[in-house]
Amino acid sequence: MDGRGVRRTICEPFKIRVVEPLPLPSREERERALRDAGLNLFLVPSKLVTFDFLTDSGTTAMSAAQWGAMMASDESYAGSRSFEKFERVVRDLTGYRYVIPTHQGRAAERLLFSHLVTPGCTVPSNNHFDTTRANIEQLGGEAVDLVIPEGRDPQNRHPFKGNIDLARLEAFCAENGGRIPCGMLTITNNTGGGQPVSLENLRGAAAIYHRHGIPFILDACRFAENSFFIRSREAGQGDRDVRDIARETFALADGCLMSAKKDGLVNIGGFIALKAGAWVDHLRSLLILTEGFPTYGGLAARDLEALAIGLEEVLDQNYLAYRTAVSRYMAAGLNKLGIPTVQPPGGHAVYIDAKAFLPHIPSEEYPGQALVCELYLAEGIRSCEIGSVMFGTRVEGVFRPAAMELVRLAFPRRVYTQSHFDYILEGLAELVERKDKIQGLRMTYEPPFLRHFTARFAPLG
Ligand code: F0G
Repeated sequence: MDGRGVRRTICEPFKIRVVEPLPLPSREERERALRDAGLNLFLVPSKLVTFDFLTDSGTTAMSAAQWGAMMASDESYAGSRSFEKFERVVRDLTGYRYVIPTHQGRAAERLLFSHLVTPGCTVPSNNHFDTTRANIEQLGGEAVDLVIPEGRDPQNRHPFKGNIDLARLEAFCAENGGRIPCGMLTITNNTGGGQPVSLENLRGAAAIYHRHGIPFILDACRFAENSFFIRSREAGQGDRDVRDIARETFALADGCLMSAKKDGLVNIGGFIALKAGAWVDHLRSLLILTEGFPTYGGLAARDLEALAIGLEEVLDQNYLAYRTAVSRYMAAGLNKLGIPTVQPPGGHAVYIDAKAFLPHIPSEEYPGQALVCELYLAEGIRSCEIGSVMFGTRVEGVFRPAAMELVRLAFPRRVYTQSHFDYILEGLAELVERKDKIQGLRMTYEPPFLRHFTARFAPLG
C-alpha cells in the first residue's frame, strides 16, 4: 500500500459494515451436496459453498456510497438523471462521446456485432472471451486469437502475457483487410487468468488497426486492473496515476465493450461506448428492440447510479494494490504448498495447473474436475474447471484433450479477507499430502452443448 512499504499482510482498504454469514457446511453435508450435484460444482447451491471462487463477475461487494446513491436514483423511463450521471462518468473516463447502457457484457457484444458482423467476416483479438467468440460466430463471423506465444505457456513469466502478437496481427490485417469489421483487444486477457496487455502493445495494435482502416474496440471489463499492471510492470509508467493510464488506453481505441460486473464494481450492468457516432443510431434502435430505452438499456436507474460510483472507486490506487495482491498472495501460497499455478498470477484469478499437480490422472479422466471436487470437499471452495470437461472433444470415438487442464479460482472484489485465504491455505496442506490418492472421473451425463454447466460425473474405481 502506498507509503507503507511492502508487507506480507494485505491491508484490505475498506472497513466492513454490512456482513453476510459464511456458509460452513460439515464434511458430510459437502459430500452429500457433491454427490447430489453429480460432482459438478455448478449444480451445488451456494448456501453449501464456503468460498465461492466460481467467478469475479457480478460478485462484488458494493460500497456504502453505491448503496446510498441507489436510494436516490431517478427511475424515469426516459431521460433519467441517473443516466446523465452515468454517462458523464463514462465520458470522462473513456473520452468517448456515445454511451449505450446494456444489462451486461454479452448484451453489449450481441448489440455491436449484430450491426458489424456479417457471414464471412473475421474479428482478431488477443483472446476472445467465450461469449464474445460465440456472438461473433453466431452471426457467421470468425473470431481469431492472436495472443503472443508466451501467453500460451503456463510457466513463462512474461509480464504482459495478454499482449497480441503484433507481427501476426499486421500480416492478418494485410491479408484480410476488407473482411475485418473491427479489431479487438481484451484487457486484461481473461484466458490465462487476467494477464495484462502493455501500453506499448496497445499502441502497436492501435497503429496497425488504424493503418488498415479498421475500428479498434476494447473488451474493457477489467480495464482498471490492466491499467494498474501497466503502472507496476511497464518501464516508465510507475509514476503515473492509474486513471491517466486508463484514459490513454481508451484514447488509443475507437470504442469499448464493457461488462461492468467486473471493474464496474456492480452486480449487474454493462455498456458500449464509442468515439464516433456512425453506428449509434442503429445501435440505439436495436437497443430499444431488445434491451430498453437508450437511457436505461435493460437496467434499473439505480444500477446506473451504482455503476457511476463503481467506475470511480475502482481507480483508487490502494484498492488496486489490494486487488492485485490477492491473486499474487494466493498464487504464492499455493506454490509454496506444491500446487503449481499459471505464472505470473494475473488480476482477477489464479489458475491451478491440474495436469502438473495430478500427473497420475490422464486428461481423459478429467484431472481438473477431480481437483475441483477435492477443493470443495476439503475447504468448501467452489472453483471452475477449464480443461477437458470444458474444451475436450470426442471425434469418431477418439478422445481429444484440451490444451491445458486448469482450475480457475476467480476472486470476488472486496468480499473475502486475507484471513480467509490463510485459512484455506492452512487446510490445503492435507490435500497436498494425499494428492496421489485422488482418483480420476468419468462423465456419466453429457448435454448436447456447453457441457461443463450441466454434465454429471462419477468417480473411477
Ligand atoms: N468479456 C470478458 C473478458 C469476460 O470475462 C466476460 C465475462 C464477458 C466479456 C461477458 O460479460 O458476463 O457480463 O455477459 N466473464 C465472466 C467470467 C462470466 O467468469 O469470466 P457478461
